[in-house]
Amino acid sequence: MHTETNQQLTQLANKLKHIHFNDEQSSQRTERYSLRAGSIWLNYARNPITQPVMDALVKHAKKNQLTEKIQALFSGVAINKTENRAVKHWLLRAPLDQNDADSIAVHRVLDKMQDLVEKIEDNSLLNGTPIKDVICIGIGGSELGSRLVYEALTMGKKQKIRAHFVANIDSVAIAETIYQCTPENTLFLIISKSFVSFETSKNFSTLKKWFCSDEKLSEEDFNLRSCAITANTKAALSSGIPESQIFEFWDWVGGRFSLWSAVGLPIAISCGMPAFKELLAGAHAMDEHFKQTAFEKNLPVTLGLLHIWYSNYLHFPTRGVIPYAQNLKSFPEYLQQLEMESLGKSVSLEGNNVDFTTSPVIWGSVGSNAQHAFFQLLHQGTQIAPLDFIAAIEPCDNLPPEIADDLREHHTALLASCLAQSQSLMNGGQTREDAHGKFMGNRPSNLILLDQITPYNLGELLALYEHKVFVQSAIWGINAFDQFGVELGKQICNDILSQTNGKLDFEAIKKTFDS
Ligand code: F6P
Repeated sequence: MHTETNQQLTQLANKLKHIHFNDEQSSQRTERYSLRAGSIWLNYARNPITQPVMDALVKHAKKNQLTEKIQALFSGVAINKTENRAVKHWLLRAPLDQNDADSIAVHRVLDKMQDLVEKIEDNSLLNGTPIKDVICIGIGGSELGSRLVYEALTMGKKQKIRAHFVANIDSVAIAETIYQCTPENTLFLIISKSFVSFETSKNFSTLKKWFCSDEKLSEEDFNLRSCAITANTKAALSSGIPESQIFEFWDWVGGRFSLWSAVGLPIAISCGMPAFKELLAGAHAMDEHFKQTAFEKNLPVTLGLLHIWYSNYLHFPTRGVIPYAQNLKSFPEYLQQLEMESLGKSVSLEGNNVDFTTSPVIWGSVGSNAQHAFFQLLHQGTQIAPLDFIAAIEPCDNLPPEIADDLREHHTALLASCLAQSQSLMNGGQTREDAHGKFMGNRPSNLILLDQITPYNLGELLALYEHKVFVQSAIWGINAFDQFGVELGKQICNDILSQTNGKLDFEAIKKTFDS
């Protein structure tokens, strides 16, 4: 990190230590410390910041070559240096460029997705047998993003085709899914960039057995109902899936950035191809905003800088994300992978140990439930954890008409709850005379407000966080696009399985502690 701006920020943080920002809140702050891009409004007034802090953070970004690094990201050079790969998830949502072979390949796959979705919609895929359920077998980036968007767009709505996500190797994950499906009417999507994740392979083969245990159905029927979404088409072909049902993506798409590719098929099948294209369009709009907007007005840059301020200068070890939206209940989980897999690194791109803090621990849960679970600590505990609150001004469309008015009232109450938490965390207060009723305040949060949760707006939101993560990695000089830290446990798991011939009992478990 650039030494001079780093020192300047450290000095500013020391100076601000004694200021109570609860006394500083004013309408001018909201005016000054809020930004809008597309459907998203970021209010960051309730933070321990001043204009000199924001100016120093922007200077810090520039001195750490953020401008050049953004250009490199969008130029397609191999910025994932440890794996010698380009990073081009943004291309998955860009309009067709006839002069770019990768763009042509992306749009070819989009057309192939459209074709499959149409065949499912008009029941021609299985000559009249309707698909009612889609079982999506994949883990990590091959599940979290598409499950999040699927839930966000379908929760509370009647679904013609339901998606189920089987990620965990735990037998319960399969058991709970198959009880809800009939083999004949089920489509199987095996989603794996590498096609070697052992949870995914095992779940896929077990589901094949379940399918074939119906004596009317054969392995051939299973193959007819199976699609692979992968960057390893060779392995998919050798697993018996016909080429026409393999949807390719590329090594320049990181798993946790892949929901914009055919990894998003569950969304396209359940919500329709137009909704999927809207999602892509929203993300593309955020890409353009990120590329073109001055840092002072740039949403991903500003949020990334605030998160750097929390980690490196205010030394908050964790950060919470609280969506006040039931249908974003999986957002914290999605963000955990996006942030901690990308930024949980201790060495720089050059392989040297860093001497500053990188990713905080990310956690969170949906509001208003979270208020009744862990907000006690956030208001009165000894640790401070900054929060990102996420909410939508308008409730989702298609509220059941018979109770639509009541449900609008629910939405108003939901928003009021969110605003109340952010206000009380910063301003503090006193709810009874003694020390037990004292709220110190001065606890930071951001408010990220969407107009409504729609495919387009969700695209903007998720791309905002992707780029925010990139901003942090660029300033820290670490690689946001590899994940070597997940490998050791995988290897040891294989060793344990082979040592115990796949059978674990108490004695075998005890023995593993001796090695
Ligand atoms: O183990 C971590 C990881 O490699 C993630 O980065 C990835 O999203 C997930 O596993 C699944 O990998 P794949 O899509 O190759 O099955």
